[in-house]
Amino acid sequence: MKRLILYYSLTGHTRAAAEQLAAQTAATLCEIRTVKPMPTSRFSQIMYGGMLSSFGICPKLANEPPAAEDFDEIILGLPVWAGKCAAPIRTLLKRKELCDKVTAVFTYSGSGDNSGCVRQLRQWLPHLRETVSLTDESNPLSAENDQKWSAFTEAVLAEKEVRS
Ligand SMILES: Cc1cc2nc3c(=O)[nH]c(=O)nc-3n(C[C@H](O)[C@H](O)[C@H](O)COP(=O)(O)O)c2cc1C
Repeated sequence: MKRLILYYSLTGHTRAAAEQLAAQTAATLCEIRTVKPMPTSRFSQIMYGGMLSSFGICPKLANEPPAAEDFDEIILGLPVWAGKCAAPIRTLLKRKELCDKVTAVFTYSGSGDNSGCVRQLRQWLPHLRETVSLTDESNPLSAENDQKWSAFTEAVLAEKEVRS
């Protein structure tokens, strides 16, 4: 099975998870970047990124992801912004051919609550099966990350065996 991991990461949490998953699953890895750089101060990041996600504003992307038709499935990695999916991923998901291939999503958030984000994603991802919510290390809930991540990667790999 040919698998693509597409992700966006501002502060590195999602990137680290995506790289680990790629190593475990031999998937192709692609990081989505925006044309306009995000602000550097934490306050401005929250204000600007929160505004984009809250209002459904889609920032222009700086790079083109690999063609969806070259893959059997896509795994999406993203941070939760303002309770929703990070705006650069929203831009990506305007493309139906990508949405149709997404089967699994992993999110990072400060609170550990990705329910609003997953609810939003389900509107666009008709074949979404596996989701996992990982939590920043500053939150005690992050103690559950390893266990949740193992269950997620096992489910993704088990699906490979079923489908290939
Ligand atoms: C613009 C912005 C909005 C955020 N909104 C939320 C939020 O609504 N809920 C939450 O739990 N965490 C929120 N966070 C925290 C991030 O989801 C969290 O730090 C995540 O791990 C960042 O992933 P990254 O390091 O891959 O960029 C927000 C962070 C930013 C920059």
